[in-house]
Amino acid sequence: MFLHGKRLLVTGVVSTKSIAYAAARLAIEQGAQVTLTGFGRGLRITQRLGDDLGAEVLELDVTQPDHITAAVRRIEEKWGGLDGILHSIAYAPGDALDGGFLTAEWEHVATALHVSTYSYAALARAFAPLMPGGSIVGLDFDASVVWPGYDWMGVAKAGLESANRYLAHALGPQGIRVNLIASGPLRTIAANAIKSFGVFETVWRERAPLGWDEEDATPVGRAVCALWSDWLPAVTGEVIHVDGGVHAVGGTVPAAAAAPEQQHEIAAVR
Ligand SMILES: NC(=O)c1ccc[n+]([C@@H]2O[C@H](COP(=O)([O-])OP(=O)(O)OC[C@H]3O[C@@H](n4cnc5c(N)ncnc54)[C@H](O)[C@@H]3O)[C@@H](O)[C@H]2O)c1
Repeated sequence: MFLHGKRLLVTGVVSTKSIAYAAARLAIEQGAQVTLTGFGRGLRITQRLGDDLGAEVLELDVTQPDHITAAVRRIEEKWGGLDGILHSIAYAPGDALDGGFLTAEWEHVATALHVSTYSYAALARAFAPLMPGGSIVGLDFDASVVWPGYDWMGVAKAGLESANRYLAHALGPQGIRVNLIASGPLRTIAANAIKSFGVFETVWRERAPLGWDEEDATPVGRAVCALWSDWLPAVTGEVIHVDGGVHAVGGTVPAAAAAPEQQHEIAAVR
């Protein structure tokens, strides 16, 4: 129960495959109170998943300032404060992905940056006054290199990494920690929108020293819970890679020889 009594706001649950779903489920198991947010046509699904988890669901399109204001008001009225947030939101129109880097319309690029980058800061600054310290966590896909086909989402994630540092600097004096988790590829609805997603899966299959299961968001959910907990009190402005170790490995390394036994060990931990 290492999250006992924590009051957490979790965005981005739209299916049981969502990274945010894994984080919310594990946090509840660890004693947290959770409020979910849902968006657009997915809101009804979020509502159903919220019912299963016993969590209230608020409508939140993160590009709508009045939705953010209403969510802040509801959390204040319900809990009087907040201990943690998960920003698990990304979207880019199709022409900004999959080879559209040089041709995407600015309007579509702007949408990608608004939803996937700016909204991290928008949520953090809106909820910070409710947070007596606490922990804000966002989700990243390593933006230090080019991922073919990720295109403007890659730029949005690079901006997210920078925003993470600026938020850590701005909110540190209030005792609020702000960190990202750079996840390996997971088969979610957002991932389905990227046609070249298979390329990422191949890289992870070839390079992950610990192996990687693209069907299982549990390791990422556990890392989010660790960041929400009181056990990383001096960590902020960080990008923690939960990717089976791929970020540390250059080129193609035959990790396969060691992988099967290690896979058992990883499975045992889960
Ligand atoms: N799946 C992966 O391989 C992977 C890897 C690294 C990082 N991530 C990141 O994890 C996060 C969650 O994605 P996921 O893979 O769990 O997919 P997902 O499809 O389950 O979640 C994406 C969420 O974004 C929400 N969203 C989109 N536009 C929104 C808006 N305007 N307002 C509010 N919510 C909005 C959707 O409703 C959905 O819940 C994203 O930031 C994504 O970039 C995913």
